[in-house]
Amino acid sequence: MEELKLLKQLYEQRFLGYKYFNDIKSTPFSGSDLKDMPESLDELQSYISDCSLCNLSKSRKKVVFGEGNSNADVMFVGEAPGELEDDLGRVFVGRAGETLDRIIQNVLLMKREDVYIANIVKCRPPQNRIPTDEEISSCRAFLLKQIEIVKPKIIVALGGTSYSYLTGDMDSSISKVRGEFISFGSSKLMPTFHPAYLLRNPSVKREIFNDMLKIKAML
Ligand code: URA
Repeated sequence: MEELKLLKQLYEQRFLGYKYFNDIKSTPFSGSDLKDMPESLDELQSYISDCSLCNLSKSRKKVVFGEGNSNADVMFVGEAPGELEDDLGRVFVGRAGETLDRIIQNVLLMKREDVYIANIVKCRPPQNRIPTDEEISSCRAFLLKQIEIVKPKIIVALGGTSYSYLTGDMDSSISKVRGEFISFGSSKLMPTFHPAYLLRNPSVKREIFNDMLKIKAML
């Protein structure tokens, strides 16, 4: 609730001509805040289209909301937009995106339009650094609301940052936890390696392939 009040206040200030604000120490949204958010993806997208809850809003070009089938059985959650995503306002359209598309097509035997794809944070961190706790906290409710709306059977956490912030397990490495389903509300969550990691480490192809086969078998 406090976060929403702050968001309204920031919008008002922006309306009055304020462009930027000081660093915000934000706390995670609570479940009740989700009830105050729009109930459709389109409305949620416009609700956050000029978000300035965290410092990433200062340097981003576009808010990268997410895209795909609003009733998807499978939802992929990456880390944060990169340069091309920031330019185009679309998720996973760079090299990592091409790799993700190939995984979806060749292993899940689906099209990109059949799944839903989003990120932990909706704005590009400068120099593609890992988003901070505060940036993730500011954006978390938006992702949770996307999950609530899409209601995927399976959420695929792409990489350690996505896994940690979705589950709250900040200690386990992705290589330890990948490949096993975890309960996540009414969905199941499968952690796996990030496609960008696969590009740098082609030897993990087999592991990702096996993780996707488990997902395919669960659908
Ligand atoms: N592009 C995205 O949209 N997300 C990532 O995590 C990486 C690249």
